[in-house]
Amino acid sequence: MQADLERILFDEATILRRLDEIAAQISNDYRDRELTVIAVLNGSLVFMSDLMRRIPLPLRLDCLSVASYHGRAETTGEVIFKQVALPDVVDRHVLILDDILDSGHTLAAIREKLETAKPRSIRVCVLLQKKKERARPVDADYVGFEIEDEFVVGYGLDFMERYRNLPCIGVLRKELITQSN
Ligand code: IMP
Ligand code: MG
Repeated sequence: MQADLERILFDEATILRRLDEIAAQISNDYRDRELTVIAVLNGSLVFMSDLMRRIPLPLRLDCLSVASYHGRAETTGEVIFKQVALPDVVDRHVLILDDILDSGHTLAAIREKLETAKPRSIRVCVLLQKKKERARPVDADYVGFEIEDEFVVGYGLDFMERYRNLPCIGVLRKELITQSN
């Protein structure tokens, strides 16, 4: 799998060091409150699992499943919620966790949808944020790493459902993306 990478951006140790910092920041910001983490499946699974074990606060976990990519390396803008019921977040302090902020379509749609469920507050935490203009304005309150506008895989992030189990994050070789289109 590593041979399919053009280059590695962040190895496992670097990612975990950064998670220590973000977790400390989140733990401090929410120190007197109960946190409800909403993880966006499947991309945030690995990130969520490593991050939440670094937050020593009472917290609840819920997951949301959305589809926005349909197996290609570009976003279509359409966000489909795969479950009928939203998690119960009335009066809760919600922290949405996602793998990457790219066009902004996914997080904008999720945030909008969760706001209808009347939480007390909503913040957004992403592992990666691409440096680019977004199709929809979304601000992430916690960001692991800023990256260039390149297609990356690993540590939960996929290309056509593969590479999620790579322990590092790297740029996928371009010819692998074009071949499968
Ligand atoms: P957005 O709606 O364009 O912001 O895209 C968000 C979703 O697209 C993420 O949750 C990822 O699942 C996927 N995505 C965006 N960029 C990448 C990438 O570089 N690698 C893998 N998945 C990506
Ligand atoms: Mg994906």
